[in-house]
Amino acid sequence: MTHFIDIKGVHHAYKTKHGPLPVLDGLDVAVPKGEFCAVVGPSGCGKSTLTKLISGLMRPDRGAVILDGQEVTSPRKTVGMAFQNPVMLEWRTILQNVMLPLEIVAPGMKTAEAEARARHLLEMVGLKGFEHKKPSELSGGMRQRASLCRAIVHKPDVLIMDEPFGALDNFTREDLWQTMRDLRAAEPFTCVLITHDLRESVFLGDQVIVLSGRPARTQFVLNVDLPADRTIDILYEPKAVDMLHLLRDQIRIAQGRDGEMH
Ligand SMILES: Nc1ncnc2c1ncn2[C@@H]1O[C@H](COP(=O)(O)OP(=O)(O)O)[C@@H](O)[C@H]1O
Ligand SMILES: [Mg+2]
Repeated sequence: MTHFIDIKGVHHAYKTKHGPLPVLDGLDVAVPKGEFCAVVGPSGCGKSTLTKLISGLMRPDRGAVILDGQEVTSPRKTVGMAFQNPVMLEWRTILQNVMLPLEIVAPGMKTAEAEARARHLLEMVGLKGFEHKKPSELSGGMRQRASLCRAIVHKPDVLIMDEPFGALDNFTREDLWQTMRDLRAAEPFTCVLITHDLRESVFLGDQVIVLSGRPARTQFVLNVDLPADRTIDILYEPKAVDMLHLLRDQIRIAQGRDGEMH
């Protein structure tokens, strides 16, 4: 099978004043087109580094990052990004913030068309009526919804999310998972989601990749064999609960504490 994202044998070390800090050490990630890959691993193991490699902000020391059959060698416009703290421009309305990537990636697009696209997405995530608010007038969850719209407004072929829901309370976070599921059904994209929430990884992922402690390698890959139209309730069913236990065990191994629990 050909993969839309193919990360093969990636090694990377940061240069620091104390010498090289190896961060990735044999990373393999393969994501078919349109699939959702969740990545979990101990804090500081190299997850954010992985997002920088996929978006082309950094190049690995060794190994290859291939997107759609082409090696990534420079920053890619066709990538959408969402982070934990969405940076919104306060002097622009929510609608204008969501339209921003189109101004950069598709400068020839008519304003009316760009606006219609942004309005459509805002309506899909439940923000109809908030188009003309300023970012500071929205709650954290609403701002994150708007930031998801902004991340996909230009129809990126890859959406990279680095702990996007990490700062939200549990119920808001679950609402956003469902929004994400619906967006994905309506707007096809290939997604890499970094998270430290195992339930989130199982709810949203087609596969969950567990990274080892730093320097990170691909330690374990879980195929999430659950229906695409899953609801939060599925997380309480035995199949999902088994997956969560399995992932918990893998995280324990990644943290180097596998002996401790027995
Ligand atoms: N630009 C950098 N220069 C040096 N060290 C870095 C740099 N960026 C990250 N690191 C270090 O690399 C390791 C992995 O970082 P990161 O990818 O952000 O981890 P994670 O997102 O999994 O928490 C951490 O120890 C971090 O301190
Ligand atoms: Mg990080």
